[in-house]
Amino acid sequence: MPSQEIVATVGLGYVGLPVALAFGRKHPRAIGFDIDAQRVAELRDGIDRTQEVSEAELRSAPLRFTSNPDDLAEATAYIVAVPTPIDADRRPDLSAMLAASRLVASYLRPGDLVVYESTVYPGVTEEICAPVLAEGSGLSRDQFHLGYSPERINPGDQEHRLETITKVVSGESPKVLERVARLYESIVEAGVHRAPTIRVAEAAKVIENTQRDLNIALMNELALIFDRLGVRTSDVLAAARTKWNFLPFTPGLVGGHCIGVDPYYLTAKAEAVGYHPQVILAGRRINDGMGRFIAQKLVKMLIAAERPVKGARVGVLGLTFKENVPDLRNSRVPDILDELAEFGVRPLVHDPLASAAEAADEYGVELAALDALTELDALVLAVPHDAYDSLAPALPDRLRDGGVVVDVKSMLDPASIPSHLHYWSL
Ligand SMILES: NC(=O)c1ccc[n+]([C@@H]2O[C@H](COP(=O)([O-])OP(=O)(O)OC[C@H]3O[C@@H](n4cnc5c(N)ncnc54)[C@H](O)[C@@H]3O)[C@@H](O)[C@H]2O)c1
Repeated sequence: MPSQEIVATVGLGYVGLPVALAFGRKHPRAIGFDIDAQRVAELRDGIDRTQEVSEAELRSAPLRFTSNPDDLAEATAYIVAVPTPIDADRRPDLSAMLAASRLVASYLRPGDLVVYESTVYPGVTEEICAPVLAEGSGLSRDQFHLGYSPERINPGDQEHRLETITKVVSGESPKVLERVARLYESIVEAGVHRAPTIRVAEAAKVIENTQRDLNIALMNELALIFDRLGVRTSDVLAAARTKWNFLPFTPGLVGGHCIGVDPYYLTAKAEAVGYHPQVILAGRRINDGMGRFIAQKLVKMLIAAERPVKGARVGVLGLTFKENVPDLRNSRVPDILDELAEFGVRPLVHDPLASAAEAADEYGVELAALDALTELDALVLAVPHDAYDSLAPALPDRLRDGGVVVDVKSMLDPASIPSHLHYWSL
């Protein structure tokens, strides 16, 4: 086992980039590899389009950014952090995991270590990736080492970072576990948790996000009930939260490529072993239906306010999957837009962080300038980016008399809404 690993991180996205940089700071000759040559060129120029890492940090990074696979040859430890999305049928799509494994396999030498960081269901590392590594490298299973260490970073969150969150580590044997643990102990100040097996570590990650998804689904179901009762959900939650063990979740749209996706990895594996999950999928159904519910609520409010629905001038603030990130993938805001389109409403959508080109490509949405959101019949505060905080007091001025404000994340104080407007929050 090498005393000082040469670490190559494969996949430099939200997860891989901070990992690669952390290894670069502690291990000489560290490599950061991505198949996206454009991404690598940007990183070399000090640009992180995920906006997680500053230009100064990138420029001073003691790390070789590369999209040339041959640069992987000298690594002794490979960290794989590639995407694990779902396909159109909501089944796990392991194509990037397989492609990255084939790539690593072609450079793998006896004694090398491969650690997967991508979120998967229990069994993927050992049952699916390890055979690809063995076949592609021509090595037998005991000639290379296998580990898994799930990632817990939270994009847009400066407090919970790679260095400050306990890292779960695992290995295929006690010896490999120690190697993986030592590797991560060199970069994670908060230390590591040694899981007994790779499957345990894989399962732990996927249930962390499943639990969060279900807790939010419960809040969303409560919001559907309280809406029928004419009770403001955030008032109920503020009261309930005064009990010491009431968990502080809130209703909302569940998008992104983690919380809304990972449960499907678990349910797919459950079904493969003959168990049909009920609670987990019920939560998914509720969360996936919230965009449509919000749009229908808006339409009902327009009708109640005696405003024409078809052709109504509606503004939407925020398109990304959550606040303070530029990431548009699997955003649920387009669910609101699609449902409104069914009623003949084509909103003006603004987002200060989203890329206009990506919004157009991915969702067919032409982002509007903030100045265009005036004389509105309705305004939907969909994503509470910090950038909107300073706008909050003047938001009602953007609406016509009798207009409707839909405040998805209860960003506004209802008392601040002038009486000539109609306000609703989820
Ligand atoms: N983003 C998060 O908040 C988060 C948190 C925890 C875990 N995860 C998990 O981590 C994994 C990575 O997520 P992410 O958000 O960093 O994804 P991402 O899309 O931001 O980045 C993935 C990177 O991998 C690259 N890539 C794709 N295929 C590759 C290949 N074959 N070889 C080399 N590079 C390749 C892409 O070009 C991209 O730059 C996923 O499994 C995700 O579920 C993500």
